[in-house]
Amino acid sequence: MSRSAHPAGPRHADVLPEGHPSAPPADLNHLDRKVWASTVTRTPDGVVSVGGIEVTRLAEEFGTPAYLIDEVDFRERARAWRTAFGADADVFYAGKAFLSRAVVRWLHEEGLNLDVCSGGELATALSAGMPADRIAFHGNNKSVDEIETAIRAGVGRIVLDSFQEIVRVAHVAQSLGKRQRVQIRITVGVEAHTHEFIATAHEDQKFGIPLAGGQAAEAVRRALQLDGLELIGIHSHIGSQIFDMSGFEVAAHRVVGLLKDIRDEHGVELPEIDLGGGLGIAYTSADDPREPHEIAKALNEIVSRECEGAKLRTPRISVEPGRAIVGPTAFTLYEVGTIKPLEGLRTYVSVDGGMSDNIRTALYDAEYSVALVSRTSEAAPMLVRVVGKHCESGDIVVKDAFLPADLAPGDLIAVPATGAYCRSMASNYNHALRPPVVAVREGEARVIVRRETEEDLLRLDVG
Ligand code: LLP
Repeated sequence: MSRSAHPAGPRHADVLPEGHPSAPPADLNHLDRKVWASTVTRTPDGVVSVGGIEVTRLAEEFGTPAYLIDEVDFRERARAWRTAFGADADVFYAGKAFLSRAVVRWLHEEGLNLDVCSGGELATALSAGMPADRIAFHGNNKSVDEIETAIRAGVGRIVLDSFQEIVRVAHVAQSLGKRQRVQIRITVGVEAHTHEFIATAHEDQKFGIPLAGGQAAEAVRRALQLDGLELIGIHSHIGSQIFDMSGFEVAAHRVVGLLKDIRDEHGVELPEIDLGGGLGIAYTSADDPREPHEIAKALNEIVSRECEGAKLRTPRISVEPGRAIVGPTAFTLYEVGTIKPLEGLRTYVSVDGGMSDNIRTALYDAEYSVALVSRTSEAAPMLVRVVGKHCESGDIVVKDAFLPADLAPGDLIAVPATGAYCRSMASNYNHALRPPVVAVREGEARVIVRRETEEDLLRLDVG
């Protein structure tokens, strides 16, 4: 179908449901740099391009929906984190945000380490050549098989998440004749200001060992006694999509407090602390994320100050950003299907994907932006809800946004900042075929994760 201008469609610019949060932007054709990958731009003919390639061409070659990832932007962000933290700290990219072999190679080349949290992520990392000693292995319920594979591979650290796991990892390591470097993940009791499902440092939840009631101290006691373990540090991850540094401040204060208690009780100064990931990104123009150098400066200052106060040597810091590296580097390209104006409410714009390629809106009430990218339009703004093609009324991709009122079937629209937790949380609901991830760089596009096919689905169905 033609992607050029279309005859005027439904016009709802003047109809805003009561309580709608935002007014339409002054210029619907404008791309806010905050939410788009760094090489995204609108070409003189009005089509949006990434890495020097127009989205119309990408849609023709790779189909829609598709995740387009800007490799240059990814590498720049990875490098910015690496540089900001410098040689005395380690940056572990959190693979759960999005992992593929190409991404592992980019990270390796840019000098980052990798945090994995399952046997599958570990296998991907190792198969793409990430040195095992630069991998951290996470998870609240690692299987004995996963533990054994990780130890055999020689992962740099396993992050212990429970009392059972302390014993389990020690046992497996010993039976393999190894001493495994480990950290203990603690919950410091911070209420992070983010969605309940992605906050992880309050005590009433499944991750980590609570600092409260001396449980973390007891975990340290046990770990220090076991021959199969080399306890190198304490880990804290307070949550995700966080803008406010005060949660990290409290976490660092409490982690250093524990290091001091350990020194006082055991005469041991643990050499490392990990403050996790969780730094927020801009999904809409209303978000104001921090730059990696500001974050590094803030965290370094907090930790040095706390250690000085406790008369401890400053430990080596590590962090685990996932979303902050990959999130802004990709967008999802959709083709507009049916358009349904609901008088006095809003216009429902259906796309050829939905909650199977982006579950975040349904799951966390996440906010996204959207733009018409196959052309410009001077039509009035129309309040829309971008929805998918699934059998579910909660199948919403973008809850509230404005698109031009002449939007028509066949237009291409794009949702920015979908690099993190979209492909990695994608599903086959309704037997949807998960979209490809296409990496674009300096005028070249290549598939790094291919689109699923019906054969892929049927291959698993062996009944
Ligand atoms: N380290 C640990 C131990 C984690 O559990 C996580 C995320 C990270 C690092 C990376 O966090 P990031 O920098 O990406 O915020 N699916 C949710 C996010 C879940 C995060 C789980 N853990 C979402 O879509 O918002």
